[in-house]
Amino acid sequence: RPTLLIDTDPGVDDALAILMAHRYADVAGLSVAAGNVGLGHTVANALKLVEVIGADTPVFAGCPVPLVWPAEDAGFVHGADGFGDIGYLPSTRRVADEHAVEAILRLSRERAGELTLIALAPLTNLALALRLDPQLPSRIARLVVMGGAVTGRGNTHLVPAEFNIGFDPEAAHVVFSGWPEFDLIDWEACVRHAMDFAWFDRTVAADGARAQFYAAISRKARLFNEGHGRRRGMIVADALAMAVALEPGIVRKAERRHVGIELTGAATRGATVVDWEDRFRRPANARIVLEVDQERFQALVLGALDAAST
Ligand code: BDR
Ligand code: CA
Repeated sequence: RPTLLIDTDPGVDDALAILMAHRYADVAGLSVAAGNVGLGHTVANALKLVEVIGADTPVFAGCPVPLVWPAEDAGFVHGADGFGDIGYLPSTRRVADEHAVEAILRLSRERAGELTLIALAPLTNLALALRLDPQLPSRIARLVVMGGAVTGRGNTHLVPAEFNIGFDPEAAHVVFSGWPEFDLIDWEACVRHAMDFAWFDRTVAADGARAQFYAAISRKARLFNEGHGRRRGMIVADALAMAVALEPGIVRKAERRHVGIELTGAATRGATVVDWEDRFRRPANARIVLEVDQERFQALVLGALDAAST
C-alpha cells in the first residue's frame, strides 16, 4: 500500500482521485492549490471531501495565486465553487495551521524515501517547495504529474496548453526543469481513457455517502463533458493519474522523453514541448504515459465508489 501526498485543487476529477486514494492507499495529507477555482473554495472542498470520506487526513492550504501572472480558473467546468454548486453544508473541520509548501517539505523529511507525491493541480506549491529545497526530489520515492498536452491538443483557450500547466507555466517550468524523473499523465491520454457515459452513470449511482456526494458534485461536469460533441465519454483526468500512482503496473505503454515548458510564446504559452526525437540529447525527465489498462482503471474507480467494498 503506497503512502501518498496529494497536491490538489478540488475540482470534480480531483475529488474522484482523492476518493480512490483513500480506498487503496495511505494518505499523508492534501496540499491544496488554487486552480480550478480560488483557494478559499479548493480548501473548503478538500475539507468537505475528507469529512465525507470519514478520514482524518490533514488539509494544508497553499498558494492563492500563480507565481507570476494571474490566470483564469475553470469554474465553467467544475462549477463556480469547484464542486458543482450543489450548496453543500460546509465542513466543520479546520484547515491545518502549516502552509502547504512547508508541509510538503516537512513530510518529505519525516518520511524520506516513502512518499509518492501526486500533483493534480497547477504546480505552484511544488515549485516553491523545490525552490526552497532543491534536494526535495531525493526524498520523494516517486512523483506523478497530471498535466500537459504532449502533441499540443490542450484544453485551454491557448489550445496547445493544458489547464494545470497553462494556469502557472512558470511553476511548471521550475518543476519540469528541477525534478530529475517523474511520470506524466497528459490531457491527451486522459481523453483517450475517457469513461463511457452510461458506465459512468451506473457507477456513480452506487449506494453510500461517497458515491452519492460524488454523483452530486459531478453532475455539472458530466453535462459539460456531454456538451462537447467530440467527447466519447467522461474525462476524469486526475483519476487516471491517481490510477497510475496507485498501481504502476497499470501502464501499458509509455515513452521516456525530455519535456520542457513554453513560457513566452504568444499563442503557445504553457505548452509542453516534448523532444520526441531526442534531438537535444538532454536526459529524459518525464515518463509520458500513453496507454493504461482501461478495464483495470475503471475497476479502481468502481471500487472507490462502491460502498460494499469499504
Ligand atoms: C486538469 O485541470 C483541472 O481542471 C482538472 O482538475 C485536472 O487536474 C485537467 O486539465
Ligand atoms: Ca485538478
